Amino acid sequence: MSDVLRVGVVGAGMIAGCHVRAYAATPGVEVVAVADPRAAKAERLAATVGARACSDLATVLDLGVDVVSVCTPPRSHADLAVGALGAGRHVLCEKPIAGSLADGRRIVAAARASDRVAMVGHVSRFEPDHRAAKDLVEGGHVGDVAMMVHSLTTSLPGWSEGGWLADPSQSGGPLLDLSVHSFDYLAWLCGSPATRVHAVAADSPAGPATYVVATVRYAGGAMAQVEASWAHPVARGFKAVVEVTGTDGRISWDYDHLNGGAMYLVDGGATWFDPLGERGYHREVAAFVRAVREGGPSPVPVEAGFEAVRTALAAQESLRTGRPVDLRTWEVS
Ligand SMILES: NC(=O)c1ccc[n+]([C@@H]2O[C@H](COP(=O)([O-])OP(=O)(O)OC[C@H]3O[C@@H](n4cnc5c(N)ncnc54)[C@H](O)[C@@H]3O)[C@@H](O)[C@H]2O)c1
Repeated sequence: MSDVLRVGVVGAGMIAGCHVRAYAATPGVEVVAVADPRAAKAERLAATVGARACSDLATVLDLGVDVVSVCTPPRSHADLAVGALGAGRHVLCEKPIAGSLADGRRIVAAARASDRVAMVGHVSRFEPDHRAAKDLVEGGHVGDVAMMVHSLTTSLPGWSEGGWLADPSQSGGPLLDLSVHSFDYLAWLCGSPATRVHAVAADSPAGPATYVVATVRYAGGAMAQVEASWAHPVARGFKAVVEVTGTDGRISWDYDHLNGGAMYLVDGGATWFDPLGERGYHREVAAFVRAVREGGPSPVPVEAGFEAVRTALAAQESLRTGRPVDLRTWEVS
């Protein structure tokens, strides 16, 4: 690898713009290609960084990139991530790692068979508020984590190409698209795998099961309430609410897209932060680039991304049956 890390971004939609801007802001990194079958989108995004626009992964690989960012809808992640890893490239794959367990397993197998860095874009882990809470928990400030709330509520996003987000068979609905952030973050935060999930949902004008609440039990004994919505009015915007309570303290914070948020710390202090901008994506990409340069380990292993998807798909199963799902034994294709 030359000193400059050469990047190819596959997909030129909403999240691809965040990746391109984050790579462009990272020293020693050059975005050399942006691929999307929608040529105008690829050209527009590529032009922002002087990259070459093309239509598919094969062309990106031919251009000799070192790393590939997979920024396409979930059902295409496995073919792209496996193809890039098989060609010896490092991969940053957007969440959810896949739309099915079978596809997720393909990516995990390809990552294990490769000596490249394979990372999942679970950006929550890199947002300053979420990271600060993780540091406080690891520093013992809340004692043993017992109760967690993670809520991400908004309206149905309108930007997706061909409307794939609104189609549950393509996006998995808010459980797979939104709550997968919560499932990954909470298991990482409490340092313990989810063992049981039970979900209930309501329909809304945005579609079936577009308001969801899931309860999750963790192996270490903690429990969580996860809320996800695409059912809220457009004008309300995005809102995040998080609370972590342990044997010795509590951390809570919230923000919306307009007002920023306050984080209340266990010592009684509070910090203010601005949710606008791309704070998480820049840190995520910087962590990926560092891991590539240092030879690993992956900052967010594909196994963690797979477990978050498994929890989300088990929650969907719970919606269908009305019963909790035991994740210690649950296995589907
Ligand atoms: N981490 C986050 O906060 C976050 C936020 C939004 C989206 N995402 C994730 O990013 C991924 C993409 O979402 P989006 O909102 O950018 O979608 P989008 O619809 O805005 O863009 C996806 C693009 O991929 C292109 N595409 C589809 N198949 C392709 C292929 N095989 N090769 C090349 N391009 C292809 C489409 O033409 C489209 O332009 C999804 O997995 C989504 O869950 C993550």
